[in-house]
Amino acid sequence: MTGPRRQTLGVCYYPEHWPEERWPVDARMMAGAGISHVRIGEFAWSRLEPDPGRLDFDWLDRAFDVLHAHGLAVVLGTPTATPPKWLVDRMPDMLAIDEQGRPRGFGSRRHYCFSHLGYRDECARIVTLIADRYGGHPALAAWQTDNEYGCHDTVVSYSAAALAGFRDWLARKYQSPDALNRAWGNVFWSMEYRSFDEVELPSLTVTEPNPSHVMDFRRYSSDQVVAFNRLQTGIIRPRSPGIPIAHNYMGRVVDFDHFAVSADLDIASWDSYPIGFLDRDTDDIDNKRRYLGVGDPDNQALHHDLYRACGEVRNGAADGRWWVMEQQPGPVNWAPWNPAPAPGAVRLWAWEAFAAGAEVVSYFRWRQPAFAQEQMHEALLLPNGEPNEAHEVCCAVSRELAQIGAVAAPTRADVALVFDYESAWAWHIQPQGRDFDYFDLVLRFYRALRRLGISVDVTPPAPDAVRGRKLVVVPGLFSADERLVETLAEDNPAVLLGPRSGSKTADFQIAGDLPPGAFRWLIDVTVRRVESVPPFADIPLAGGGAFQGWREFLAAGDGVQVRRTSADGHPAHLAAGKAHYLGGRPDEELALAVMRDIAAQAGIETHDLHRDIRIRDNGDVRYIFNYGPEPVDIDDLVAGQAVLFGSSPLGARQVLAARL
Ligand code: GAL
Repeated sequence: MTGPRRQTLGVCYYPEHWPEERWPVDARMMAGAGISHVRIGEFAWSRLEPDPGRLDFDWLDRAFDVLHAHGLAVVLGTPTATPPKWLVDRMPDMLAIDEQGRPRGFGSRRHYCFSHLGYRDECARIVTLIADRYGGHPALAAWQTDNEYGCHDTVVSYSAAALAGFRDWLARKYQSPDALNRAWGNVFWSMEYRSFDEVELPSLTVTEPNPSHVMDFRRYSSDQVVAFNRLQTGIIRPRSPGIPIAHNYMGRVVDFDHFAVSADLDIASWDSYPIGFLDRDTDDIDNKRRYLGVGDPDNQALHHDLYRACGEVRNGAADGRWWVMEQQPGPVNWAPWNPAPAPGAVRLWAWEAFAAGAEVVSYFRWRQPAFAQEQMHEALLLPNGEPNEAHEVCCAVSRELAQIGAVAAPTRADVALVFDYESAWAWHIQPQGRDFDYFDLVLRFYRALRRLGISVDVTPPAPDAVRGRKLVVVPGLFSADERLVETLAEDNPAVLLGPRSGSKTADFQIAGDLPPGAFRWLIDVTVRRVESVPPFADIPLAGGGAFQGWREFLAAGDGVQVRRTSADGHPAHLAAGKAHYLGGRPDEELALAVMRDIAAQAGIETHDLHRDIRIRDNGDVRYIFNYGPEPVDIDDLVAGQAVLFGSSPLGARQVLAARL
């Protein structure tokens, strides 16, 4: 574990979009705004190699020089998310193919299939050239591989390359067609195969394909992202020793296993667009109205914690290096509606990230372009090159960072919230109720923890990650890994299992002796029936709160106590010692009540926070955020602490920092 790292600001910059005379002006302004890191290059392939084999790196050399001369550190992106037209024309079958069998054509970005080995060779070639040239440049601070794997639904491709790769992958995994047939249950509907070459991709079937088939194809597709990324990191590392490698993940994109990709990265980063995501985060109109200009109070924070966990995969527990590679500065162009950030919001977002331990928060982007797809996307400068409101915020945040000497402090929280990418695929493949969504389920439990003022580590479902905690929350884990359950049984933290936990085998069949499978070693409960219901049919619980969309009919074994029942008389929350099972998707009131009880049992301190207030500790600095539109009195939360900035009552969308 390394010591604390200084927290600082960055920006995304496209020198190729602007006249070269302007670069020194931009660099001077960036340095003047307190920016230290500048990400460049990630979409510049057509300028680096205008014709096949004709390289033009001179302009990038000069851009490096200008930034370096102004004391700015460079984050260099590999340009593989935007293969140029000549390359696509040379190998048209490198395009990804959608579920309907149509090519995903040239004219935007991410128009490649991860399985295409010819495209991988081209990526290896360009990345080698770039890494050879810039790997040792004194201005280079970090690498970014590609850009946003999975953006625009691009992980899964139904191409010929994917079919060939999938068949090989299956042959390696199952060794014999019989083993595959058994694992998938292919006796059903006469789906049995005699050889791996008979297996097709799970698209264009008459009705739904076999969930086991789809699940393996999702696993295969995720593995291709891992391999694609590893190809690049394997080229960069020896050519750029000591320089960390990052990738910029996205919000709510769960189509590949980010923990697996992160095993090859030094820094996990993500692109945070809080307002753009509000539409996807909640169906609650009152919340959407209240947080229109600031975004959901818990969505960004959950991602911060998730990507800190990704940063830990390589760096080790409690040292998850992570950044925000792109931070929204103003209205974006891509959401259904694009409201402007409310006053205070842009500053609040930066501090929420720093409070969660981000090393760098980097704005997207420096200057709004007058051309092409993102001409309506705000930046720190107006299209004419003058600073806008977000530029002022950037200057203010950089002064505050210096004022408090902010550092990213490694942490390990008492509470672990297990996040699992396979579970996200599983419940997408088999929602069983139209609105059952894994991310939403996780967010419900996370929100309850945060509303109680509890700091959380998100973790993969791995024994080492959950060890040594006071409370482990497991919402909807698709399959109960026996080693994970054994660790929980030995370690004996309080455990909260959410609905659908352990309900399947890894092959996607109903778990052996009924759900929750191996989790029955912790609590003797069986799930005898599940029902999904539409949004107008909430299922109230006897003591308040309700299940929404999903409930399970539970049978309690010996020594299991019924803690809550539904208003219609069925067990809803069961407990055996410190192990709890909640048999439905809780609304906010129920999630809070359950979490409050369990936290008390686990000896975890809680606060009953106002709905708009959130707390986060980073080392010895406590941050308090008001996401709401009105001031809130927070005297009781700061009593006896040395306030660094901010005051009580805490104004709308304001932040207070205090030394604990
Ligand atoms: C991100 C992407 C950027 C830019 C931005 C706009 O998804 O990485 O290149 O498109 O969104 O909000």
